[in-house]
Amino acid sequence: MLLNKLFGFFSNDMSIDLGTANTIVIVKGKGIVINEPSVVAVQKNPSGKKRLLAVGKEAKEMVGKTPENISAVRPLRDGVIADFDVTEEMIRYFIKKSHNRSSFLRPRIIICVPYGLTQVERKAVKEAALSAGAREVVLVEEPKAAAIGAELPIQEPQGSLVVDIGGGTTEIGVLSLGGLVKSKSVRVAGDKMDMAIVDYVKKKYNLLIGERSGEEIKIKIGTAVLLENELKMTIKGRDQVSGLLNRVEITSEDVREAISEPLREIALALKDIIEVLPPDLAGDIVENGIVLTGGGALVRGLDQYISNIVNLPIYVAEDPLLAVARGTEKMLGEMQLLQQISIDE
Ligand SMILES: Nc1ncnc2c1ncn2[C@@H]1O[C@H](COP(=O)(O)OP(=O)(O)O)[C@@H](O)[C@H]1O
Ligand SMILES: [Mg+2]
Repeated sequence: MLLNKLFGFFSNDMSIDLGTANTIVIVKGKGIVINEPSVVAVQKNPSGKKRLLAVGKEAKEMVGKTPENISAVRPLRDGVIADFDVTEEMIRYFIKKSHNRSSFLRPRIIICVPYGLTQVERKAVKEAALSAGAREVVLVEEPKAAAIGAELPIQEPQGSLVVDIGGGTTEIGVLSLGGLVKSKSVRVAGDKMDMAIVDYVKKKYNLLIGERSGEEIKIKIGTAVLLENELKMTIKGRDQVSGLLNRVEITSEDVREAISEPLREIALALKDIIEVLPPDLAGDIVENGIVLTGGGALVRGLDQYISNIVNLPIYVAEDPLLAVARGTEKMLGEMQLLQQISIDE
């Protein structure tokens, strides 16, 4: 096979999980070399030209804190490419950063992209990687990488169902015999939870907070179910009425209420897929359950919450934030697997 030849002999092959929130780069034999937010800070000069200021962690620090001529953007935020130039710059930056000059042997690169990307967008991703020095680029669909990373037996004649809850999108995939039987991508995931918390705090406490605070609250005290021991934290923001800076104590019960709508939408999207499964595959899912991956899977009690709605066993993958990247890492090592799952024509 051609791919065998292409991938056979190179040791610095690498894979990229190009997520809406985080990008993880793995170099074969070295493991994870980059794990950073998919954020780019650009400066616009008066002529309208853009200059790249920072990428990754450094750029995320700037979100919500930039002066007018600087913006911190997430080019893949909604699972589509909002800005091609910035996306290319970001891919190029991560590829270059993951290789020190001496070992840069024009790697073959596996890139896992959000499922919703169009043909044109995929081509742009591919070209960005090629122009950054890749010798060959293979794109794979996120639900497949997630399922492989979560160690589901996707090669078997047996249905597996994976739900990857990322930042911008939730991707649901039913796999069997190495292929995606059914899949769906919805634009409800971690970001929508953050925004729902921002809105809730504004309505209930008249307090204005930014999206990054929303995310921090979600991670620290967010829950999908009632907790035996309620969690609390103090948050800071601007009081809408007085205009002054203020502090408020917020509870896990607040957050549960705040994020209930996005969580419900995720569960209902899953329910839609389950309802149209061919009966034999449905039987497998009843038997094996459903696996959650992606950072959103870390919301407390989400497995229990979804299980109550779809009435099936739900498991959270080990290290859900890394599942997709681990899936791509396995592909680096198993050429046969890659041949079966590549979406490259
Ligand atoms: N402990 C946590 N609890 C809840 N959400 C989390 C936690 N850790 C990360 N997240 C959320 O996971 C999302 C990012 O997940 P990730 O799988 O990296 O997304 P993507 O693949 O789209 O880049 C973000 O919305 C982030 O806030
Ligand atoms: Mg992801």
